[in-house]
Amino acid sequence: MFCFNNISQTMATIPLSWSTHLSQRQPNFVAEPPRLTGDPSKIRRFAVSCNHTNHGRDQKHDRENVENIPGKLDRRNVLLGVGGLYEAASLVLSDSPAIASPVSSPDFTKCTRGTNLNTQKPLDVDCCPPLASGIIEYKLPPVQNMRFRPAAQLAGKEYYAKFEKAIELMKALPADDPRNFMQQANVHCAYCNLTYEQAGDPKQKLQIHNCWHFYPWHRWYLYFYERILGKLIGDPTFGLPFWNWDHPGGMVMPEPFTKKDSSLYDARRNKTHLPPVLLDLAYSAKSPTKPSKILPNNLTVMYGEMVRNVKKIDDFYGEKYVTGTAPNPGPGTVERGSHIAAHAWTGEATPSGEDMGNFYSTGRDVIFYAHHANVDRLWTIWRGLRGTKPKDYTEADWLEADFLFYDENAQLVRVRVKDTLENEKMGYVYQEVDLPWLQNRPTPRVKKSKVAATSGAPAAETVFPLKLDKVVKVLVTRPKKSRSKNDKEKEEELLVIEGIEVDTAKFVRFDVFVNDEEDKADELDKAEYAGCFSQIPHKNSINVKTRIRLGLTELLEDLGSEDDEKILVSLVPKDGGDDISIGGIKIIYV
Ligand code: C2O
Repeated sequence: MFCFNNISQTMATIPLSWSTHLSQRQPNFVAEPPRLTGDPSKIRRFAVSCNHTNHGRDQKHDRENVENIPGKLDRRNVLLGVGGLYEAASLVLSDSPAIASPVSSPDFTKCTRGTNLNTQKPLDVDCCPPLASGIIEYKLPPVQNMRFRPAAQLAGKEYYAKFEKAIELMKALPADDPRNFMQQANVHCAYCNLTYEQAGDPKQKLQIHNCWHFYPWHRWYLYFYERILGKLIGDPTFGLPFWNWDHPGGMVMPEPFTKKDSSLYDARRNKTHLPPVLLDLAYSAKSPTKPSKILPNNLTVMYGEMVRNVKKIDDFYGEKYVTGTAPNPGPGTVERGSHIAAHAWTGEATPSGEDMGNFYSTGRDVIFYAHHANVDRLWTIWRGLRGTKPKDYTEADWLEADFLFYDENAQLVRVRVKDTLENEKMGYVYQEVDLPWLQNRPTPRVKKSKVAATSGAPAAETVFPLKLDKVVKVLVTRPKKSRSKNDKEKEEELLVIEGIEVDTAKFVRFDVFVNDEEDKADELDKAEYAGCFSQIPHKNSINVKTRIRLGLTELLEDLGSEDDEKILVSLVPKDGGDDISIGGIKIIYV
C-alpha cells in the first residue's frame, strides 16, 4: 500500500471525504469559512497514516470499543449484572450525560469559532485545527534518547541557539501545516476557548482547564511541541527549557526570551516586567505585590500550593470533569495560583492581556512552553513528594479520557490521560534544582486562639450569596474541633468556597485569610494566608460556576486554633471583585 509518512508526501490532493467534512461543520462555521476558501486542490491533507486502514480509527469506531474502557464496564456490571452485555454497551453509548464517562476527543469537523455570550457576536478568532481523515491510537514509543529539560536560567548559549533555530523553523512551516507555530498556538486556543462540543454531550463545551485534566492535557501538548521542535533540528534529545519561577534564581523573565531579534521574543508582553523585575506569583494588575514582599510571598505561595493545601489529590489536580460536566468545575492549587499569576504578569498590560494573559493567545508566546514546562515539572515533583500516598486517580473517568494532537510527523493521534503519569516513560526528564519552598512552612503573624469569638463578624449562613465588591469577613463554624493527630491523618479539614460565579472573559483574583485581624492583604507569607482564586480571561465569554477548597489542618495548627469552634474568614478581592459572586462557604472533612 502507498505510504504517506512524511510531510511532502502528505501534500496529496483533497480527499474525497473533504466535502463530507465541510457539510458536517456547523452552519455558523460554513457561513464564515476563511480557513477553507481558495482552491481546494491546494488544501493539504495531513495525517494520513501509513496503514490507516488497519490502525486509523474514527471516533465512532473507537466508541464502539467500549469493552476496552474499564470504568464503563464496571458501571455496566453494576447496572445490569452478568449478561446482557450488548444492551449494556448500547446503554453506555447512548450519549446520555446522566451516565458519567470520560471526556473524549472532540470532533474537529464540529469546531466552531464560538460566540461571546454577552454580545452574541461570533469571536474574531478562528483557532480550529486542520482536518484529517485518519486518527491513530498513540502508543508511547520506547525511550531511546532521554530528552533533558533544562532550567531556563541555567541553559547555555549553545542550547539557546538550537532552541531559537527550532522555533524559527517552526514559524517557517507552511501556514496550514499542523506543526506550524500558529497552528500549534491554536491547539491551545481550541481546547480552551469553547470551540469544541463535548463528544458525548453536544450541549456542553469542551474545556480542559479548571478541572482534573489540566496537568495531563498540557503534558501531551508540550510533549508533541517538543518532539516537533526536535525533529525540525534533527535532535531527538532536544528538551524544552523550564521557567524555574519557583526558585529565586529563576524568578525573572529568562533573558534569552527578552532579546528583540530572537525567535523567542514576543512584543505582546508587559514591558515593565523585564529583568531584573521579579515575577509576582500572586500578581494582579490592580493589586500587584509590593517589590519587597514578592520573594517571601512567592516561596510561601509555592509551599501552600505544593504541600499545605494539597493533602488530597483532588486539591492538586482540580475537580472531576466528565462528559456532561459544565466547564470549570474547579481548578487545583497551582493552576489557579502561581500558574495564572505568571500568565497575567507576562502578558501585555491591557485588560485582555495578550499574548500570555489570555487563553486564546497564550500559545503565541514561546515563553508559554517554558512556563508550562515548569508547571509540568511541579506535577512530577508533587508526585515524588507523595511517598506511598495516592498520586493519581484510579478512575477510568480520568485515566481513559482522550484528546487529539498532531504529532511530529503531522499525524493526527489520539492520546490518553493514563499514558502521562510518568514523564520518564514519555522520554524526558527535568534538570534537578533545589526546592527552596519545600521547608517553607509559614509562621503566624499573631498566634492566638478564639479570634473568631471576639470579632463581631456575621455568620457565613447570613451573608451569602454576595458580590465580592469589597472585603468580606464572616464566621464559619467547624463541625469538628480538637481533632487528634490520628483524626488529622485520616481526614483533611477543608474550607470550601462554592458557587463562585465569574465571567470567563474577565481577569479576577481574590485571596482568603483565616483569623487575620490585621488585614495585611499583601502579606501572603504568614500562616493566616489560606490561598486564592484567580483566572485569566478567555476570548469566549460565558458565566461559569466553580469552587475551590483550601486546606485548614496545617493552618489551624500553625495559628494555635485547633480547639476553636469557629474561624474568621476574610475574602479579599484583588482584581475584578465586581465581577465575582460567591454562593457560600463551609467546612468539610475528607
Ligand atoms: Cu492552558 Cu497555562 O494554560
